[in-house]
Amino acid sequence: MDTDLSNVTLVEHPVVARDLTILRNKNTPPPVFRSALGRIAIILAYHSLKGLPLRKVTVETPIQETDGYELDTEIAVVSILRAGLGLVDAVMQFIPEARVGHLGMYRDEHTHQPIAYYSKIPRNIDRHQVLLVDPMLATGGSAVDSITYLKNKGAKNIRFMCLISAPEGIRRIRETHPDVSIITAAIDERLNEDAFIVPGLGDAGDRIFGTI
Ligand code: PRP
Repeated sequence: MDTDLSNVTLVEHPVVARDLTILRNKNTPPPVFRSALGRIAIILAYHSLKGLPLRKVTVETPIQETDGYELDTEIAVVSILRAGLGLVDAVMQFIPEARVGHLGMYRDEHTHQPIAYYSKIPRNIDRHQVLLVDPMLATGGSAVDSITYLKNKGAKNIRFMCLISAPEGIRRIRETHPDVSIITAAIDERLNEDAFIVPGLGDAGDRIFGTI
């Protein structure tokens, strides 16, 4: 079945291609994994923050007054625990003033359904541009439940930034939350019977934190 990619930005870049290969390699140890993920995350964050609203301001240079801009929205980065933690710093490098939310969610090994165990998100989430981050979009269950939770709390503008996505997850987000755009570095082939992305990179959380 073809996947409608109209809600997807596939980020292509030589550094991304090189670092994705490092991440996919099963012999890459956690410190190298984390640094490669950090580099890709910066490129993903750059694309994820495109098109944010600006307001015009006046700025005084040492020479004269001129026009400038400020971001015209507050920004919240919301990380799906655990693996989303590996993407937060990159966004904070661009937006140091961003608020950070956390949604604890793990996938049941047998049913593959997400199970929520923690949530803490910024106040007034309705006033924020929300960037939801998680390296892996597999069945889409974790992302869809997270988006639903954020919308129920009032969030209106949500983008989803992930490293590797499966067509199944992209379809699921598109069907459930067509207003949410996805920024990803790779669209892989499929899911296997354990709902792992193929070829993927294994369990991102385990590889980031060395809990394999
Ligand atoms: C992984 C991954 C996503 C989720 C993707 O987390 O980081 O959160 O699975 O799968 P889905 O699209 O099918 O929901 P995991 O459950 O392994 O938890 P962890 O981050 O704590 O390792």
